[in-house]
Amino acid sequence: MAYNLLKGKRGIIFGALDPNSIAWKTAERVHEEGGTFVLTNAPVAMRMGQIDELAKKTGAQIIPADATSIEDLENLVAKSVEILGGKLDFVLHAIGMSVNVRKGRSYTDEKYDFTAKGWDVSALSFHKVMQSLYKADAMNEWGSIVALTYMAAQRTFPDYNDMADNKAYLESVARSFGYFFGKEKKVRVNTISQSPTPTTAGQGVKGFDAFISYAEKMSPLGNASAQDCAEYTVTLFSDFTKEVTMQNLFHDGGFSNTGVSQEIIEKFSEKE
Ligand SMILES: NC(=O)c1ccc[n+]([C@@H]2O[C@H](COP(=O)([O-])OP(=O)(O)OC[C@H]3O[C@@H](n4cnc5c(N)ncnc54)[C@H](O)[C@@H]3O)[C@@H](O)[C@H]2O)c1
Repeated sequence: MAYNLLKGKRGIIFGALDPNSIAWKTAERVHEEGGTFVLTNAPVAMRMGQIDELAKKTGAQIIPADATSIEDLENLVAKSVEILGGKLDFVLHAIGMSVNVRKGRSYTDEKYDFTAKGWDVSALSFHKVMQSLYKADAMNEWGSIVALTYMAAQRTFPDYNDMADNKAYLESVARSFGYFFGKEKKVRVNTISQSPTPTTAGQGVKGFDAFISYAEKMSPLGNASAQDCAEYTVTLFSDFTKEVTMQNLFHDGGFSNTGVSQEIIEKFSEKE
């Protein structure tokens, strides 16, 4: 069902790699709600991914940008404003990658140039995106900027590795930049802390299948899907959430506030 919640709104969506991507589902949902946008991803991901298909389906143009490159981001922001015919109302940052995870190095055996690269891609890039938007004065008043995060920023999940630290940094950037964007430009900045979701980035985490089943059993509402996340993001881009800013918003079926569930208790009772 579509409600025209984003009619007349323009934006940029980072991170759609394939149809499982949270950003892919968000682009489809934003399109259904009447929003127009530019799609962007790293040039290398574009060659592997299927973003052309999404662009065709949603009437979007694609502008490649490595989210760690200020030059790419400045070009992306300027071109997006030009293509869309005005300043922006929404931006989705859905970017994550850890080189240590990819290379199978544990948290106690980090290679620090891998750590630095993963931090730049997954965390500092959010500051770079916002600084590029801020300096170009590219956001409309009452615009909304959202980044995706995970609860490992607050609680330890050993196999989430250095991404936990990256997410903690990302959430802090949302608060800090949210202050300046709010005061100076009346733009809100939030992070959505999403359930484990079967995407390319998600499945890179060791033991992901077991973990997603555990989270499903721990969450009173079950895990939030990528589609659910897309819908929540639409609400944050809409005019119905204008005063929500500098928040980390859990979108996890209740996992984060559950100590234990009946299903988990029963699983352990079986073994006694
Ligand atoms: N999947 C999960 O379980 C889960 C849970 C909570 C939060 N998240 C977060 O959601 C966001 C989206 O991930 P996803 O799960 O949809 O996976 P995904 O693999 O579909 O998306 C990750 C995206 O990051 C892009 N990217 C990597 N390096 C980049 C760079 N240098 N410049 C620009 N883009 C770059 C990739 O090309 C890809 O499109 C990430 O921030 C991820 O950490 C995922």
